[in-house]
Amino acid sequence: MEEFKRAVAREALRFVEDDMIVGLGTGSTTAYFIEALGKLIMEGELEDVYGVPTSYQARLLAIESGVPVLGLDQVDAIDIAVDGADEVDPHLNLIKGRGAALTMEKIIEYRAGTFLVLVDESKLVERLGQKMPVPIEVIPSAWRAIAEEIEVFNATAELRMASKKDGPVITDNGNFILDARFHRIEDPLDLEIELNNIPGVVENGIFADIADVVLVGTEEGVKRLER
Ligand code: A5P
Repeated sequence: MEEFKRAVAREALRFVEDDMIVGLGTGSTTAYFIEALGKLIMEGELEDVYGVPTSYQARLLAIESGVPVLGLDQVDAIDIAVDGADEVDPHLNLIKGRGAALTMEKIIEYRAGTFLVLVDESKLVERLGQKMPVPIEVIPSAWRAIAEEIEVFNATAELRMASKKDGPVITDNGNFILDARFHRIEDPLDLEIELNNIPGVVENGIFADIADVVLVGTEEGVKRLER
């Protein structure tokens, strides 16, 4: 799997040109991309390229790798955003947020001229929710009320607990994460909108109708899927 991730990250570099502002995603696949991008910048192969990180993880790695970073509020536009995903359905709808960075990811990727997704073939599913829960970032004091609201959708929601900290995961924005398992997600766009309508929900991890290109690492090489 690591070799597939490296392969899609290498392929993603072909999409980056001089003078571009690049949204930098979060997670283990994008990490390979950020490192490789930094190498090209440091070697002078790419000029005037800036990264806009979607998380502290992406920001720290970009700085360490030699990618100059800017905040979202310092750029007029984002040419391309590059990020991983937890699931990809046949219409290129996504679930994201295993790394709890879904809110900044969605803000940046929604604004990008091109949103490029990097996955290995284990992430391809027939229907969203088949393997992974939908992460939902919520205002901390509202978590129980929102978990109850989510049951109306024939789902269960669990508060995500931290592994190297006592208590719940705290996002980069200071919020909690609920992981929601739905019986069956029929219409991802509809569910994405409905979840965001619950007061106290900051953002949810369904990314419907937003990915432009998905690069999939497989045994036979990198496959390109387009909407
Ligand atoms: C971060 O919050 C997530 O959306 C990641 O982008 C997603 O989980 C993919 O991560 P990996 O590339 O590590 O699988």
